[in-house]
Amino acid sequence: MQVINESSLLIDIISTYKFQKKIIGLVPTMGALHRGHLQLIEKAKLNCDIVVCSIYINPTQFNNPTDLDKYPRSMTADLALLEENGCDFAFCPTDEEMFEKGNTITIDFGNIGKVLEGHFRPGHFNGVGLIVAKFLNIIQPDIAYFGQKDLQQFAIISSLVRNLNFNTQLIRVPTVRDKNGLALSSRNVHLSEEGKQKALTLHTSLNTAKNRILKNINTKDIITEIKALYHSNDIALEYFEIVNKDTFEKIISIKSFNTIAICVAAYVEGIRLIDNILINE
Ligand code: PAF
Repeated sequence: MQVINESSLLIDIISTYKFQKKIIGLVPTMGALHRGHLQLIEKAKLNCDIVVCSIYINPTQFNNPTDLDKYPRSMTADLALLEENGCDFAFCPTDEEMFEKGNTITIDFGNIGKVLEGHFRPGHFNGVGLIVAKFLNIIQPDIAYFGQKDLQQFAIISSLVRNLNFNTQLIRVPTVRDKNGLALSSRNVHLSEEGKQKALTLHTSLNTAKNRILKNINTKDIITEIKALYHSNDIALEYFEIVNKDTFEKIISIKSFNTIAICVAAYVEGIRLIDNILINE
């Protein structure tokens, strides 16, 4: 595996592979790799000739500076994992390489960028959109892989690719969970064992809500029940919403199970966790 820090070098290397008609796969990450990321690499290896994994903690997608400071960093271990898992190139640019000073470009994703994560993390999706657009331009992947845990991010990136005509197919890979059901996340390293137990409420509450939906219980009652559950478990809930899986607009009365996603964000031991579930998957 080759580790590359400069975009210009990666662009040169990729152009050679493109000329040879090789299929390029991209797995974008912010490092602190876990089994969820390795699953993306595994999928990429199945379908692509060349797999590039980016490791870059993108400052422009953090609305909270403390969150950026606290974000786990483990570059040496990450590179070893990528190598072991057959990644071909690790792209690890510096901030200077990615963002010129005073970069002022913003991307307005419309309503989908303003609700749920967009509402609670102002500027977050703009930062995600910017960095992903840069990676798509530099790496020109035929296929890019993202985890379902960031479901709204996937919808945002799909919008970016459609609207800016990137020639990249996006694959959404199901969330990888630990044996108890906790969605794997780089942020989990900050949780104590007790915190991890508490954090299971996210997964169990999503399943409870899903079962209630399948029994045609109305959405308002479901949300009231779930909010009470978070309150009694002493977990600070940021949002718990039943939404359309493509537009992320709230669903008040359910017409089809196919379009529904349930999304949650909550703080456990001061760590912000998100999770989601699709009704028909
Ligand atoms: O999902 C992530 O880890 C990040 O948001 C991404 C897509 C790598 C962009 O920084």
